[in-house]
Amino acid sequence: MSRNILVCVAWPYVNSEPHLGHIAGMNVPADIFARYHRMVGNRVAMVSGSDMHGTPTALKAVDEGVTPEDIAFRYHEIWANCMERMGFSYDLYTHTHTKIHEDVAQDVLLTLDKHGYIYEDTQLMPFSESEQRFLSDRFVEGTCPACGFDGARGDQCDDCGRTLDPTDLIDIRSIRDGSTPVFIETTHLMIKLSAFQERLERWVKTKNDWRPNVRNQTLGFLNEGLHDRAMTRDIEWGVPVPSDRFEGYDKKRIYVWFEAVIGYFSATKAWAINSDNEDDWKEFWHDSDAESYYFQGKDNIPFHTVLWPAMLMGYGGLNLPTDVVANEYLNLDGQGFSSSRNWAVWLPDYLERYDVDPLRYYLASIMPETSDSDFTWEGYLAANNNVLVATLGNFVHRTLTITTRNFDNQVPDPGELGSQDQSVIDACSQALEDVSESIESRRFRRALYQAMELARVGNRYLDSEEPWRTVRSDPEKAAKTLWTALNVISTLRTLFYPFIPFSCDKMHDLLGFDGATATDGWKRRVVEPGSPLPTPKPLFRKLDPEIVEQEKERLLAQQSGE
Ligand code: MF3
Ligand code: ZN
Repeated sequence: MSRNILVCVAWPYVNSEPHLGHIAGMNVPADIFARYHRMVGNRVAMVSGSDMHGTPTALKAVDEGVTPEDIAFRYHEIWANCMERMGFSYDLYTHTHTKIHEDVAQDVLLTLDKHGYIYEDTQLMPFSESEQRFLSDRFVEGTCPACGFDGARGDQCDDCGRTLDPTDLIDIRSIRDGSTPVFIETTHLMIKLSAFQERLERWVKTKNDWRPNVRNQTLGFLNEGLHDRAMTRDIEWGVPVPSDRFEGYDKKRIYVWFEAVIGYFSATKAWAINSDNEDDWKEFWHDSDAESYYFQGKDNIPFHTVLWPAMLMGYGGLNLPTDVVANEYLNLDGQGFSSSRNWAVWLPDYLERYDVDPLRYYLASIMPETSDSDFTWEGYLAANNNVLVATLGNFVHRTLTITTRNFDNQVPDPGELGSQDQSVIDACSQALEDVSESIESRRFRRALYQAMELARVGNRYLDSEEPWRTVRSDPEKAAKTLWTALNVISTLRTLFYPFIPFSCDKMHDLLGFDGATATDGWKRRVVEPGSPLPTPKPLFRKLDPEIVEQEKERLLAQQSGE
């Protein structure tokens, strides 16, 4: 039976171009998951877009003396373009500055209010006397009251992961000019998070298949007891508070985290409106057996395992996350990616110089699933030259060249298979099962490794059967070997499709198949004896080892602002 799978990807702030650290832990796993589920025949909606109203965007606008809209749309274009070029198969990639998002966000606020979960209260918020304005969230910095980390921000501590309010920060200062803000009383809408304490606890305790880090962090926050939090801010960039219900909020906006998480819901609705059936969103949000998976970096965990589920519970009738698939961080040559220090491989730059699939492959192979991992150009080079070219590409290319040269550009007829051949065909079936099980359980590195194992099996099989020799001494045996190897390629094409779709489309064409890999199902499409084979072309490009030095120099030059 076909399942409904909602694939939710965290919405990036748009104040910089995307770099590899952004995509390694969210877009890459989400896309693997979505492509796999479509292939097995499930209904998938994969949604995300730009989180436009965040203070990082507002800050950048102040720096440049332009409007937040200018910044948001400038970077949104770049992000959306990169998402497409990377082959991330969103059903909708939108942003939070749309009419439908505003409507849905306001509806969620009003519904929570109707259900008794919103109340008004005065709050102390930091105010900059030098700039004569409130400094919300990421406009302030200070020491985390929980862990003592001195770079905590007004919305959260990046060290221990706690969500914070500006009043929680010790030694609070403006990140604009370092001045100490004063705290001024201001009225805000509060969400009664405390009302969801027990329900959230009960729910999280059932989630035995979550990654330990996600589950433990969440139980940790819940153990400390949930506090009600302000869901509006004194800023003018953001989603307005509905004025027919709440008075005096025209200079305030809905708190960005409150409205951004609603993006998953509003984007599913927006996607449905543009599809054949505008009610299509319902089967993802209302059907009790629909599944939803949220892909993100570890700093987003409490917003997705506490705030958003509480909002969904308060709204009523909408599905809670099946899993919050949070990843650790990707570093660059041992140091964290940093936009401000320009320590980053920027995606638009990468795409100018290299192919997409080697990056998708390498990032998936080092995905920071359970601990931080490290992008290095040496590692990238090795993944490309030693694995993609030498293992996968080599297996495919030698099989196809020997076959086309010796069997008149046609798939040979194997007759009855020998036991060696049969065991390789069995390995194909096993690989399909193994990779499927790993992707289902969100273990992507393992899935990729298992897929590559089949290419290794294929290479060993060719080395032992030596079809280049038997093609002369025993052509019937060679036909069996090559037919079997072609079926391994057909299986590899399926297995790797979620990871490196562009190369799998090439394998599909090289096998002379009609149709498309994406719609062939999760199986070994049998390669038919007698069907024509086109002239083989290599799948991957070998890279010159010199790129490692070149790229390192480029990074250093970029850092020193050249
Ligand atoms: N913009 C946030 C960040 O980059 C993530 C928002 S995810 C959402 O950390 F669900 F809230 F949108
Ligand atoms: Zn902390």
